[in-house]
Formats: sequence, structure tokens, C-alpha cells
Amino acid sequence: MTRREFLFYSGFAAPLFAKRDNDPSAIPLGSNQLAKFVDQLSTPPIAKTAGYRAHPHDASKKISYYRLRMQEVTHKVHRDLPPTRFWGFESSSPGPTIEARSGEPLLVEWQNHLPHEHFLPIDHSLHGAGPGVPDVRNVIHLHGGRVPPESDGYPERWFPPGGASLNFYPNIQEATMLWYHDHAMSITRLNIFAGLVGLYVIRDRFEDALQLPKGEFELPIILCDRSFLPDGQLSYPVSGDPHHPWVPEFFGEVILVNGTLFPYVELQPRQYRLRVLNASNSRFYYLSLSNGEPLRQIGSDQGLLPKPVELRTLTLAPAERADLIVDFGGHHGQKVVLNNDTLAVMQFRIGNKVHSSAGIMPSSLRSVPKIPEQEAVKTRLLTLTGPPDDDDPTVMGFPMLLNNAFWSNPVTENPTLDTVEIWSLINLTADSHPIHLHLVRFQILDRRPFDMFQYFNKRELRYTSPAVPPDANESGWKDTVRADPGMVTRIIIRFEGFAGRYVWHCHVLEHEDNEMMRPYDVVKPRPLIG
Ligand code: C2O
Ligand code: CU
Ligand code: CU
Repeated sequence: MTRREFLFYSGFAAPLFAKRDNDPSAIPLGSNQLAKFVDQLSTPPIAKTAGYRAHPHDASKKISYYRLRMQEVTHKVHRDLPPTRFWGFESSSPGPTIEARSGEPLLVEWQNHLPHEHFLPIDHSLHGAGPGVPDVRNVIHLHGGRVPPESDGYPERWFPPGGASLNFYPNIQEATMLWYHDHAMSITRLNIFAGLVGLYVIRDRFEDALQLPKGEFELPIILCDRSFLPDGQLSYPVSGDPHHPWVPEFFGEVILVNGTLFPYVELQPRQYRLRVLNASNSRFYYLSLSNGEPLRQIGSDQGLLPKPVELRTLTLAPAERADLIVDFGGHHGQKVVLNNDTLAVMQFRIGNKVHSSAGIMPSSLRSVPKIPEQEAVKTRLLTLTGPPDDDDPTVMGFPMLLNNAFWSNPVTENPTLDTVEIWSLINLTADSHPIHLHLVRFQILDRRPFDMFQYFNKRELRYTSPAVPPDANESGWKDTVRADPGMVTRIIIRFEGFAGRYVWHCHVLEHEDNEMMRPYDVVKPRPLIG
């Protein structure tokens, strides 16, 4: 690590709560200042259709139409705190859950009814946030959706309050849990922090046949770490440099679960399906149960795993999802805590009676045929880099980059539709970056440590030990992958679905907002001449 990187990552470089140190009303509450397990877990409402509209490519067909308004909402996150202002959808944050069926397309009209002023610190020096751009601007992306480019929520297609966008979601993919969230250029971290997230669940016949726990026995768990001031309001840090308030990462003092701090939930002693989403800006989670019982993971980002995987600890990077089965049978009357590392997230209170029969655990789930490496028509070496080694303090807000390119540089990744490529992510920083590609699902091939200094000095990839296969719970279809520091992470991707302009980026939202995001093009194959 260079000196600059050391300063950058250790947090010495930017006094995050500068100038606030003496004012107790401006210091975020620590997690031990709040009573735990005094509020009940809530789950987001299910979105209701607002009618039917013509299919955009076949006017003879009518498909479900939803209208979701982004607006300011207020709710109590904790018994002992005054209500908090959020930005949500309709009357909640997280917004209503959209329930979709594979093969049944639908339309969502995203309407912007937010106020004209932002309540979080905008950095106008970031690309796309300069003069002439409204402070409040939004565009919604369906994360993990195989969606045509015009409906994908391209970061520059934002619209201000008063605006709207009608998006077409074809649902031509397998059962899984996606999520929708804001994606507006250089302000995504603040819009998501404000609460603009929601779930989008796709179901299909294959999954139905497995008879997994459903209805009240299927619980969404959306994790967002946040900091709150004693008056109950959200607090997002600034760098201390008024011209560049951007901070390189955000770690909250406390964790919201579906919008509530340290909630509890009363359960029956039986199997439950927990559908966990890490919707945090920067935080990675390391989840486990206080009674030592394993978590059984049955699905990852893009659907079911080949078979259940038993985990003592579940690692979840920003934007990753885990589909879990937890068996509370035999734990009558107990209280089990879901922990992140050593800190409590929420509590399960297990009752004494089972009111409906507990399910059995299928031993095999959905096959995930490996994409053969020989099918790849191209391998791209793509670096993830930190700020240059430079002692000039003005470089402090310097971004991390993908393949040494800024957002505004010409497109360099241009895979051909219906071909397979391998992307080798060479991480030269000291951080793990969750890398996400829009449109596609992919498989992780391996991770392999290399000599960073050799690379810096000679641009030479010298591996220092053998490649490590992905973890068992990463062996299904993914849309976000941890690119660990000092490793080359290889993913294999078939670019299918649609041609057009998409993006790939780091899902640490602070990184994404400051240049760690690139446009990419899926191009139509050139017609054969002759
Ligand atoms: Cu979660 Cu570009 O998205
Ligand atoms: Cu996405
Ligand atoms: Cu990153």
C-alpha cells in the first residue's frame, strides 16, 4: 500500500465529523445508546397494480402497470427516537415490494414527487453534479434485471421532481430477488442513503415446485447501516473540505432492518425463508446466529444454488443477496439473535406452537450449468486502482478508477450480443470492491493472488499462489462479485438479452458516485457480407 492509500483507507486523511466535535446534537448516536429489540420488524407492503396497459412491443396484449411515486416519508426507526425523514416510494421506505412472475412482463411508472431541495450534502465537484444540474434528480434502476437499455435506469437519464419515467420490465429470467434503487449520476449514494430502495421478487414454476416456506414464513431482510442524530434525523458525513465534501466510504453506527433499528420478530418453531439484501452504501456484513445454528443458503443474487450450502457466517457485500432457510424448529420459547460480527442486528422470538406444518429441505435445488471457459471469445484485463501516490493534498478526493478510465472517457468494453467473455478484475487497491454489471448474470471462475509491486513497477501479472475457486455459496448465478485486494477475480459472462448501452461499476456507492463506474455497450453482431 502506498502512503496515500494508507491515509486514504485508514481514515486519517479526512476528519469525517470535523467541526462537529463539540456539539452533542450533531454527534450520531452509537449503537449502545439505544435499547435493543423494543420495536417489531416490519415488512414493506406489496405493490398493487394501478391497472393494465398495452405491451410496448405488442399493443394487442395488456400487461400489469404499476405507478410508484418517489416522495418524502416519515417514520419512527426506534421507540426512543423522534420520527425520521426519509425519501421512499408511495408511503414507505423501503418502498413497496413488486411481485413478478417469470415470463410475465410489467410496466412501472416511476414518478418524482420529491422536494426540490436535497437534505444531504451534495458534492458539486463530482462529474455530473456541476452548475445547471438540479440538486434533486432521480432515475430508478432494477438491479439484476434483464431489461432493455431504455428501461435500465442509465445514470444520466435522471429526471427532476415533476418528472417521470415509464419502464418496461420483461421478467425474462429465473426466480430470484432483485431490488430497485436510485441510480442518478454522482448522487446515488445520497439518494439511496435517503431511502430510495425497494424489493422486486421474481417467481417461477420451478421454484413453486420446491414448496419453500412462503407467505408469512418468507421474510425479507433489507440491511442498511445508517447514522442518526439525537433528534432522529439521518446524518451523512462530509470530508471537511467544503469544496469537496465527498467521503470515500460510509459506515453507519447502527443498522436498519426493513427501516427499523434492532427489531424483533415473533416466529413459530419451524422453517423460515429469509431473503437478505445488503442495501448499504459501503458496509460488508458477516452474519451469524447467536445459538450457533447454521444458516442454510439456497440462493444468491440471480437465483437458486445447485444445492443448499451450510454457513456459520454469511458474508454479504453491498448489493449482494442471500436466500436463506433457517430452521427454528426445536427452539421453542428461545430468543435467537442475528449478529453482524459481534454486534446485534435483530432478534427472532420463537413461540411454542407450530400453526402450520414445517417444510422439508430439498437436497438439490436448481442446476447451474457451468459456462465452459473455451466458449469465451475474449478475455479482458481490467484494473481497479486507487489514487496515485502523490503528496499533493488536493488529490485527496481523487477517485478510484476502473481500468484507469473516467466515466466520460469513450466506451472500452463492448462485448458482442450472445457471446461469452471472461473479465479479469485486477484489484490494485487495499479495499474489496463489489463489482456489478447491469443486464447480465455471470459465474465466478476463481480468485488468484498476485504480486502488486511487480504490477505497479513492471505492469506484469505475476501470480503468487494458485487460483482459489469461488465459495460454495458463490457457485450459482451472480450479478455482483467481491473483487478482493491483491487478487485477480475472474468472472465469465454471456451477454444475452439486449444490445445497447449499460453500465458496470463498483457497488460501494461512494466509489460509484466518484468515477468507479463505466458505460459499456452490448453490440449487435456484424452481419456477414457475401
Ligand atoms: Cu445496484 Cu448499477 O446497480
Ligand atoms: Cu444493477
Ligand atoms: Cu469500490
